[in-house]
Amino acid sequence: MTPVPTVSKDSRGISDAVAFLAEAARDFRTTGAIAPSSKRLAGLLTDRLKEEARKPLAILEVGAGTGSVTRALLDLLSPGSCLDVVEANPKFAQRLRHLTRTHPRLNGSMPQVQVHQSYIQDLRTERRYDLIVSGLPFTNFEPEQVDDIMRQYLSLLHPGGTLTYFAYIGTRRLRTLTSRPAQAARHAAVERVLAGYQHAHATGCWSVWGNLPPAKVWQLRAPRTGVADPLVSPRDTAARTQEKAGGRR
Ligand SMILES: C[S@@+](CC[C@H](N)C(=O)[O-])C[C@H]1O[C@@H](n2cnc3c(N)ncnc32)[C@H](O)[C@@H]1O
Repeated sequence: MTPVPTVSKDSRGISDAVAFLAEAARDFRTTGAIAPSSKRLAGLLTDRLKEEARKPLAILEVGAGTGSVTRALLDLLSPGSCLDVVEANPKFAQRLRHLTRTHPRLNGSMPQVQVHQSYIQDLRTERRYDLIVSGLPFTNFEPEQVDDIMRQYLSLLHPGGTLTYFAYIGTRRLRTLTSRPAQAARHAAVERVLAGYQHAHATGCWSVWGNLPPAKVWQLRAPRTGVADPLVSPRDTAARTQEKAGGRR
């Protein structure tokens, strides 16, 4: 394993940016951006934690990259809280482990913070979360994959729990201009899947123009009624609507 050197804030920012760009050049589909999220974007993604900073909360961060959002979460973590960080890229996961071991608030040991080098789809846990913060590049994925991950997120949340995620602004137009029609159609299909979840569960949406590229933050809430109100994905709803329509024929 390559050791991650101890660095000042400025050089850490540069080192993160270089590491991010290198991984984006190697595998843009999974990395999904050319630069880590700005402080403003990280701040909006973690706002729910500020509102409830004193309570012990269970938090899941997915697609943490070089840790710009992880740092904001660690800064706000209250005693008794736990944070699971899931990141698919092994190089990023190594940096995240270093970050969680050396973050000043954690004094070198905080057993409730864990980094999992894994795809979120492969995460097996009995834990349920109060907050999930997702940094996944959904518009690089297949629509079915996005639907499965959104279902997974909702089932991993406590009733009334919050999911925050972001989407870059203007990427569909860019893809329509620069990619093959099949790619543009896949992108549009992913947006339709996300729109279904937004329609059913969104409680807030904010634009961050100072990010590279500018981004939109979405906040969704899992139904409070838990088992009595099963989590239904837009795909299921569409299937049931078709079934109903078929039944009436
Ligand atoms: C757009 S970057 C966001 C990084 C960071 N959260 C930020 O805001 O700067 C997306 C990250 O998700 C990771 N990733 C992509 N697909 C994943 C998956 N299925 N499970 C877990 N991590 C994934 C990538 O390796 C990358 O680090």
